[in-house]
Amino acid sequence: MTALYAVFGNPIKHSRSPQLHQAFARQLGESLRYETRQPPVDDFAGGFRAFVEQEQGLGGNVTVPFKEDALRLADVVSERARQAGAVNTLIVGKDGRLYGDNTDGIGLVRDLDRQGISLEGKRVLVLGAGGAVRGILGPFLDRHPAVLMIANRTAAKAQALAELFAEQGNVSGGGYDDVTGQWDVVLNGTSASLSGALPPLPVDCLADGAVAYDMVYGAEPTPFMAWASEHGATAVDGLGMLVEQAAEAYLLWRNKRPDTATIHAEMRASLT
Ligand code: ATR
Repeated sequence: MTALYAVFGNPIKHSRSPQLHQAFARQLGESLRYETRQPPVDDFAGGFRAFVEQEQGLGGNVTVPFKEDALRLADVVSERARQAGAVNTLIVGKDGRLYGDNTDGIGLVRDLDRQGISLEGKRVLVLGAGGAVRGILGPFLDRHPAVLMIANRTAAKAQALAELFAEQGNVSGGGYDDVTGQWDVVLNGTSASLSGALPPLPVDCLADGAVAYDMVYGAEPTPFMAWASEHGATAVDGLGMLVEQAAEAYLLWRNKRPDTATIHAEMRASLT
């Protein structure tokens, strides 16, 4: 029987994951099915169990709004997923147990590596304090920025997140009004771009040669990317992160790593 995987989300219709995983399988000469599944928002566990028990699914990717449900459902959770507070990859083990992992953070830093963007010794500003940001802070801090500030509309959430990661580096949290000085790398981990909004950043917060990375992607630059470009920064979207987190998930399931070099261009070309 052909190995079956799926991405779970609600909504899920516009997910690029099937296209990506099918490209990986093609490249590696493997035969697998990768589909979408949309359980009701209040029953991720039921939906995933049915996928495993009735369809013999071997693993799943998990996206909004189910990443925390997936963390609760997994029998064994990796350290990085525990730290992220979320699972984006579920693996049905040969021992019958369900393993939960999170490849979002490693996907993001691999995309930065690929694009020659270093965090080492840099001043890094992270916007937002929701699940998306929590998911990437561990791998970000592993790259040894000189300082990392989390800025959020609701400052208390940024402060709480900074405390959670305080042991791993020089991390602080605050509101946008607390953002002072210039920053080498600014990561937009808010959902503002999805509603066409721009986080209220001070106009002079970008250092010379700054990189502005939006975790959101699309055919057009996001408001944050447009703003950053206007102010002289290099603006990057999150499509590369999507590709890299998927490649890491593929590795977990299949024990083979796809070569993403050609896939990035393929995905970019398919965005309309
Ligand atoms: P996700 O899982 O994508 O992180 P979330 O947990 O709902 O989603 O978090 C969304 C984040 O985007 C929050 O940090 C939110 O700020 P608040 O905590 O202050 O609500 C941020 N956000 C959403 N819309 C925004 C906007 N227009 N400007 C600035 N920040 C915004």
